[in-house]
Amino acid sequence: MRDVEKILVVEFGSQYSHLIVKRIRRLGVYAELVYPDEILDVVNESVKGIILSGGPLSVYDPDSPKVNMDLLLNLGIPVLGICYGHQLIAHQLGGEVVGGDVGEYGGVEFNLRNSHVLFKGIPLKSIVWMSHKDLVVKPPKQFVVLGSTRYTEVAAMANDEDKIYSVQFHPEVVHTEYGVKILENFIYEICGCKGGYNPFDIVKRFVEENIDKKGCNALIAVSGGVDSTVTAFILRRIFGDDLHLVYIDTGFTRDRDREFVYNFFRKSGFKNVHIIDRKKVFYKELMGASDPEVKRSIFSQIYFQVLNEFIHQLEEKYGEFKYLGQGTLYPDVVETGRTSKYTDKIKSHHNVAFRELSRLELIEPLKYLYKDEVREVAKSLGIPSEVYMRHPFPGPGYLVRIVGKVDMEKLRIVKEADKIVEEELKRFNIYEKIWQGFAAVLDVKTVGVKGDKRTYEYVVAIRLVESEDGMTAKHADISSDILTSIARRILDEVDGVNRVLYDLSDKPPATIEFE
Ligand code: XMP
Repeated sequence: MRDVEKILVVEFGSQYSHLIVKRIRRLGVYAELVYPDEILDVVNESVKGIILSGGPLSVYDPDSPKVNMDLLLNLGIPVLGICYGHQLIAHQLGGEVVGGDVGEYGGVEFNLRNSHVLFKGIPLKSIVWMSHKDLVVKPPKQFVVLGSTRYTEVAAMANDEDKIYSVQFHPEVVHTEYGVKILENFIYEICGCKGGYNPFDIVKRFVEENIDKKGCNALIAVSGGVDSTVTAFILRRIFGDDLHLVYIDTGFTRDRDREFVYNFFRKSGFKNVHIIDRKKVFYKELMGASDPEVKRSIFSQIYFQVLNEFIHQLEEKYGEFKYLGQGTLYPDVVETGRTSKYTDKIKSHHNVAFRELSRLELIEPLKYLYKDEVREVAKSLGIPSEVYMRHPFPGPGYLVRIVGKVDMEKLRIVKEADKIVEEELKRFNIYEKIWQGFAAVLDVKTVGVKGDKRTYEYVVAIRLVESEDGMTAKHADISSDILTSIARRILDEVDGVNRVLYDLSDKPPATIEFE
């Protein structure tokens, strides 16, 4: 977004960078992530402030990312360093950073020593969240120490002349009592932002910028989930009746979705809604597969083959198709482009492979937005909450919830158990309170007893997680009544299951899906 008032968040590999972006957007100012070496390319008059965020490395690590501090200061744009950013400012401008032996982690008392606009409205003592090993022991010249903690003498510092400020703690995490206020002071009091950011404005701008594509044929594969649905509604504003929707029944989708998707879109006035049943092709290639990455890769290949064949069929009837809509979200874009730089590949997300393989030009109206913003946009578009509050469902569907070898029995089990989980979460009124809830079938059979008879049957795991964006997650603390009710129904109603477990793991170290 070139000409929208914004804050750049420079990311050095910290899991908290997205959180900073989100907090700032929620405070009413658009924020975007950039890499240190991209700052100068993207800076223009719409950039009102720059935040140097956290990162896992020490400034003394030869591979640690740096910024050109002189050039940065010459821009005259206010800079706020957070954690690694704080140490980097100290280190590069002549202060002193030392390696701490024990580090400082968790909530600690912060004492404000000098009043400053960055801490406007904040008491002299408050709790801040620390997660660092290295310490700034001496600020650079021209800097004033604003506050300290027990172990960190320079926990916050400022140089008003050069408009550069920094804090050792993480204002973006909820455990920092006045963290949001600090960010608010930075963006409004120091950077002079006007505010008023609304994710729907980004969508309107996207439509305006792409309206010249009107008259071309476009296709979008819809799943019934919030991202592809919102994308379809936005793309209709550009392509009108030249937008075609396709739902591919892969057999690993929820049985009830096919009809739901067709009825919903037709009722919402979409003219071209195609449902194609390709279960047989997917089953032929995937039954018997067991390695998670092999399964994902086969699934993606067949999916593109099926999609391409369908595009050919459409082209014979309607002429050339130029654009392929996709509900890619901001974290996907950032993760896709960047994972190689600081992090390991964990799994090949189907939607990411999609971006790389498509022969049509991709059009991705949600690529600047987070999930909660997409839900807000959905509301503005009049999409019903039963659609926009749906839990995320992975592109490869139940395939990634069948641990080990895929067969028809495990597929039936996972589908039936998952339906029960969804029904019970809704019945107990907690479906909308959690990020995602589902069942997975494990590659394990155990001994049980039913009506005095020995059984040797599958184990189903229930996974209920709380998350902001799926990148990290916490298992949900659910009352035992609800868990018991889910387990009882699965054991009573799903043939071939004699044991149900609740997954207590968080992400990390687990991922949300099982494969
Ligand atoms: P993981 O399992 O990586 O999942 O912790 C994070 C979030 O992404 C969803 N997920 C996918 N979504 N295609 C998708 O569109 C995929 O291949 C895929 N794999 C995982 C998952 O449901 C969770 O919300």
